[in-house]
Amino acid sequence: MSSPVPGLPMVVPAQGLPARVRIHEVGARDGLQNEKSTVPTEVKAEFVRRLADAGLTTIEATSFVHPKWVPQLADAEQLFPLVADLPGVHLPVLVPNERGLDRALALGVRRIAVFASATESFAKANLNRTVDEALAMFAPVVEKARSHGLHVRGYLSMCFGDPWEGAVPVHQVVRVCKALMDMGCDELSLGDTIGVATPGHVQSLLAELNEEGVPTSALGVHFHDTYGQALANTLAALQHGVTTVDASAGGLGGCPYAKSATGNLATEDLVWMLQGLGIDTGVDLGRLTATSVWMAGQLGRPSPSRTVKALSHQE
Ligand code: HMG
Ligand code: MG
Repeated sequence: MSSPVPGLPMVVPAQGLPARVRIHEVGARDGLQNEKSTVPTEVKAEFVRRLADAGLTTIEATSFVHPKWVPQLADAEQLFPLVADLPGVHLPVLVPNERGLDRALALGVRRIAVFASATESFAKANLNRTVDEALAMFAPVVEKARSHGLHVRGYLSMCFGDPWEGAVPVHQVVRVCKALMDMGCDELSLGDTIGVATPGHVQSLLAELNEEGVPTSALGVHFHDTYGQALANTLAALQHGVTTVDASAGGLGGCPYAKSATGNLATEDLVWMLQGLGIDTGVDLGRLTATSVWMAGQLGRPSPSRTVKALSHQE
C-alpha cells in the first residue's frame, strides 16, 4: 500500500481486475453535443488539446452528422483540422451515413463510429430510421471505411433501458450487437444512454453476450450517470474483463434525442477509482482536473464531477 499523496487516492489493488484500462474520452462529442449555447470552435480545439496533454490517447472529437440535428457540432469541418496533428492520439468521430463518412474522409479522419440502437423508439428519434433501416444505412459506411483502412467502432444505445419502451429485452441487444460485429466493426460500445443500469444488470448482459458469441474483448462500456451508478457499473464491467471504458471529462454530456439522458461517467471520477486500484490509464489527474475546471469556466457552470469538485474546491 502506498502512502497518501495530496490529490491522489491511496493505491490498494483488488483481485480480478485488469492491469490497464483504455479510456475512450467522449467529452468533446457526447459532452458538448447537448450544450444549450454553442461553444466556439477554438475553445473545443483547446479542450481536445488539453485532454491530450492530460494523457488521454483516444479522444472522440466531433460528429459528422446533419448539422440541423446537432447544431452544436456543426463546425466539424473547422474543428478537426485544428486537432488532427496531435501526436499519438486517436481522434474518432461519429458518422451516421455515407455523406458523413465522405465528409470525414475528406479531412483525413482515421477512426469513425457508427451508432445503432437496441430499441425502435430511439432509432427513430436519433436517426429517423427503424433499427433495421439504420443497420442498412451503416453497412456500406462500415465497408467503405474499412476499405480505406479506418478503425470502426459500433455504438449500441439503450442497452439497459429506454425512456419510451422501458425494459429492453436482451435479445434485442444481442441481435444488434451481432449485426454490428458481422458488418465488420472493430469494437462495440454498450450504451446506457439514460443511466438506468445497475451492476448486476451489467454483469448479466455481458455474460449473455458472451454466451451468444460476442467476446468481452470486443466490448467497451458507455455509462451515463443519471442515477449515480456509472462508477459502480464500470467496476462491475471491469470485474467481467472489460478494459475499454467511455467517460467524459468533468462529467459533461447527454443526448439531445434521448429524454432524461444526463452527463456521462466523469473521466476524473473514473481515473480516481482506477488509480486507487493501481490500474494504469496513462492519465495525469491534476492536468485533467485543471482542464475540466477551465472548461467549466468556458461553459459558465461548475463541473458535475465529484472528483473535480473535491480536487479544485469548485463551488
Ligand atoms: P434525415 O433527416 O433522415 O436525413 O436524418 P436524410 O438521409 O433524409 O437526408 C436529408 C438531407 O440531409 C440531405 O440533404 C442529406 O444530404 C443531408 P438534401 O439532399 O436534402 O439537401 N445529410 C447530411 N448532411 C451532412 N452530414 C450528414 C448528412 N446526412 C444527411 N451526415 C440523419 C438522418 C442520420 C442524417 C440524422 O438523423 C442525424 O444526423 N442524426 C444524428 C443524431 C445524433 O448525432 N445524435 C447524437 C449522437 S448518438 C448518442 O449520443 C448516443 C451515444 O453517446 C451512445 C449512448 O449514450 O447510448 C453514441
Ligand atoms: Mg452517450
